[in-house]
Amino acid sequence: MAAAPKTALFICTGNICRSPMAEGLMRKLLGPRTDIHVISAGVSASRGQPASLHTLEVLQRLGIDLAHFRSQPLTDDLVARATWIFAMTRSHLDTIHLLFPQAADKAFLVCEFDPRLASTLDIPDPIGLGLDAYERTRDILNRALPSVLNFINQYPMATHTPASLSKSSTTSPTLAEADPQIAQAIRHEARRQFENIELIASENFTSRAVMEAQGSCLTNKYAEGYPGRRWYGGCENMDVIEQLAIDRARQLLGGDHINVQAHSGSQANMAVYFSVLQPGDRILTMDLSHGGHLTHGNKANFSGRFFEVQHYGVRQDTEVIDYDLLEQHALQFRPRMITAGASAYPRIIDFPRLRHIADASGALLFIDMAHIAGLVAAGVHPTPVPYADFVTTTTHKSLRGPRGGIIICREQYAKAIDAQIFPGIQGGPLMHVIAAKAVCFLEALQPGFRDYQRQVVINARALAAQLIHLGYRLVSGGTDNHLMLVDLRPRNITGKDASDLLDRAAITVNKNSIPFDTVSVFKGGGIRIGTPAVTTRGMLEEEMMDIADFIHQALTPPADDSKLSALRDQVRAFTRRFPLPG
Ligand SMILES: Cc1ncc(COP(=O)(O)O)c(C=O)c1O
Repeated sequence: MAAAPKTALFICTGNICRSPMAEGLMRKLLGPRTDIHVISAGVSASRGQPASLHTLEVLQRLGIDLAHFRSQPLTDDLVARATWIFAMTRSHLDTIHLLFPQAADKAFLVCEFDPRLASTLDIPDPIGLGLDAYERTRDILNRALPSVLNFINQYPMATHTPASLSKSSTTSPTLAEADPQIAQAIRHEARRQFENIELIASENFTSRAVMEAQGSCLTNKYAEGYPGRRWYGGCENMDVIEQLAIDRARQLLGGDHINVQAHSGSQANMAVYFSVLQPGDRILTMDLSHGGHLTHGNKANFSGRFFEVQHYGVRQDTEVIDYDLLEQHALQFRPRMITAGASAYPRIIDFPRLRHIADASGALLFIDMAHIAGLVAAGVHPTPVPYADFVTTTTHKSLRGPRGGIIICREQYAKAIDAQIFPGIQGGPLMHVIAAKAVCFLEALQPGFRDYQRQVVINARALAAQLIHLGYRLVSGGTDNHLMLVDLRPRNITGKDASDLLDRAAITVNKNSIPFDTVSVFKGGGIRIGTPAVTTRGMLEEEMMDIADFIHQALTPPADDSKLSALRDQVRAFTRRFPLPG
């Protein structure tokens, strides 16, 4: 006698968009199988509504007809009948736990079975949005459901342990099995990234493709050397990958010679210095407290210990770089190298002028474009490549790739740069990261990347304008790029306190010194805010207005718990509308 069919129940809120979509897609996935019934319901649905028009349309495009579908509320009876319950979001899951605690053991999140969807967790609600939002939701569901089916096949009776946390049928344990503590911390971080508004100017959300490459078997391979010249056997695939990364980087950014092996931005910078400078040589660089970076000669950093350093900065009245003063300084100091580029400078940098100053003072010109590389690649910030002897960048900031660095240099320095990276300061290249860099460059070569970077800048301007409107003072009065510095001294808050308050409201920023700061470097006179990450989530000018208002609410006294936790709920409801890539 055939076993009684089991029932997979998908739940969302109104049972007219997401859960009917899941129902239709799952039925299609099951094909002719009759051992599993698929149904759906909504935690606050009315009975008898058809699926929304956009839902019908996006499923129709996959040959799935939901014309006869009608909504139903989640009831005791449905919950009792279900073998498994699959919720679209954590709040739906919470509702099950609250209203039907007896069903907690058989209730799961749709996204929890596929580690590649760990950063998604909640299926975004497309209701009220355009057709493209419905398509996105459908595609996420389509990606998630094979793993749900896998789980159903493996666990014909639901268990409180989801597939992602349970013994796998393979001999190799999953991360959750092998190291539950780390697996849990990653899940919590995925949730934090999803729930918070991410405004750290040097952070971004990579694509699923970048993460796949970075999480691949390439991490197993040693490939010391360069394409065609390796110290290890078995490097034929490594050569293909590294050459692709180099070629794509050149197509994207230009330059004579490119080294893609630097493990980080700091190591890229170290290789540049060590390729042409001797200990004790003079370098003229931007002051950290005026927006420069630690690797630009800060005392606490190797660059400040090996070389004789002088700093330039911004003018006190305009808070922008004074190139005339910089030229005088260079002519007096006669550095061997001038370093420019910044971590916290909101204005366009004048590369032709810097070239002129370097030539006039007999210096090499090194531009660290770590922060603005994505803008440069998309043509929304002028490029330093034709002007500089050396250009470095990280790949993980506005460029939206994996953590790492690259170096671009003039042909005459190619050998010295390669030799400094390996064997000078590094051993084996991180081939999984180099593959992910190649993927990032390919993504950045697509037309959509230009639109993305344009929006990053538009969003930064919109956010800056609204903050100014709300009474905040921005260093230099605004921004030309992806970031802004908010001077909080007039409001009597330190950067650290502001960042702590914003954290409590699920808004992530970093404290930052303000040029000519009067507050200690550990507390900082302000905060740095950037738009690359929120723009990746699809937020536009309108959302920048909301974000400025959230920031203002968080920073306006009183700082009591109930106000900040209410704001946190508001922020979470806001971020829920914007899925992470991946
Ligand atoms: C301008 C600049 N250069 C270099 C770096 C260092 O990059 P990494 O953290 O990869 O060493 C940073 C990072 O913040 C930066 O802002």
